[in-house]
Amino acid sequence: MRNHRGQFSSRLGFVLAAAGSAVGLGNIWGFPTQVAGNGGAAFLVIYLILAFCLAYPALMAELTIGRHTRANIVIALQAIASNGFTRSFGKYTGLYGVLVASLILSFYTLVAGWVLAHFTAHLCKLLGVSGIVPWLTSDNLSRNLIFAFGFSLMTIGVISAGVHRGIEVWSDRLMPALLVLLVLLIAYVLSQEGAMEGLRLYLVPDFSRITDSRLILSALGQAFFSLSLGVGTMLIYGSYIRAQDNLPAIGALVTLVDTGIAFLAGLLVIPAMFVAQKLGVDIYQNGQLAGGPALIFNILPELFDSIGFGGQVIATAFFALLTIAALTSSISMLEVPVSLALETTTMARRSASWLIGLVIFSFTVLITIYFDRLFGLIVTLTTTYSEPLVGIVLCLYAGWVWNRNSLLNTLRQGNPAIENSFFWKIWPVYVRYFCPFLIFAAFVQSLNL
Ligand code: PHE
Repeated sequence: MRNHRGQFSSRLGFVLAAAGSAVGLGNIWGFPTQVAGNGGAAFLVIYLILAFCLAYPALMAELTIGRHTRANIVIALQAIASNGFTRSFGKYTGLYGVLVASLILSFYTLVAGWVLAHFTAHLCKLLGVSGIVPWLTSDNLSRNLIFAFGFSLMTIGVISAGVHRGIEVWSDRLMPALLVLLVLLIAYVLSQEGAMEGLRLYLVPDFSRITDSRLILSALGQAFFSLSLGVGTMLIYGSYIRAQDNLPAIGALVTLVDTGIAFLAGLLVIPAMFVAQKLGVDIYQNGQLAGGPALIFNILPELFDSIGFGGQVIATAFFALLTIAALTSSISMLEVPVSLALETTTMARRSASWLIGLVIFSFTVLITIYFDRLFGLIVTLTTTYSEPLVGIVLCLYAGWVWNRNSLLNTLRQGNPAIENSFFWKIWPVYVRYFCPFLIFAAFVQSLNL
């Protein structure tokens, strides 16, 4: 392993980068879509419970293992293993995590490409160059490939610049911009007619839906995806945290920012749908509130269009926001295989980033061409199933396999009094028994459907 590893230069730098990874299309696109499809506030309530009770402890497992081992997921799980079996099981789980991260990046790039195309379309409209707009906003192969490639180049560019100059500098710039844009958009939408109906759906739960097992599994997958868990992203980011930083506090902050932004995105998108309905837009698809591409690319733009020129500015800002959120997440996915290459071969960061980035893009091409067959399959396989399963293994490694004194020592750095803290009283037991059991239970329950 190389000794000149990158490192985040400050606590804030780490928080912004990790929050940048967590906040992405999952928050601004996925979360409102799930809320719309799963009965509104009922989903919100379950999601918040799972994010803090299951995803936060799992995030802590990743961050702690990462900072202790200062390595990528494959080496890290071997390093804390206690015998031959846990060493090789750790190795293969790690490799599986790297594969899942790469697969997620391959479909994420396609979706981010659509977003980038819509951003460009609105920018063109704003600048009065509207001839190209129909091509940019229609679903066609050449547009999809060109924009996915453009997005892929942006991701590779940032990662090849390294941890501090790439990941940290860009997250520092982009994350505050994202928050400001989001708040401005919410203020506008909530002042419009129809917004209150949306607000009610979003905030007043229908308790009869809360025990729906499909809802629980969807919320679990969403919580893991949203916090970038179960693929080694948070583990590698944890490995770049300075020794003096307080891990439980930082992890809590990242969880708060991530759920906070998802909550805000819901506050924007759900009321926006009902404002659009008042304007005559059909917001239902097959009897259900629309979600996914229909929601993001048709319903919201129709709402923006109805506002006139100001609406064009808002639409451009909205798609800029989505692109920014996607980029700070995609870089964290690419960092997973790139860090593995850097720590196990003699490759330089720049060449590893380009090589791996382009290989992953070739998967994006396949998914784009065989969209109907591959897209849904890969999304479900990676986000609903693989992320929570790898998450279980990471909790088991933090709770059972890793030597407890060594775990305590890692947490003591940056928080010398941790032994007497509430966190240390609860978390070790929690990550040992509750997390693996509850994640597993959510699974089994969903399979009984
Ligand atoms: N958390 C990101 C989002 O919400 C997605 C992601 C998953 C990022 C896994 C990194 C690893 O969009």
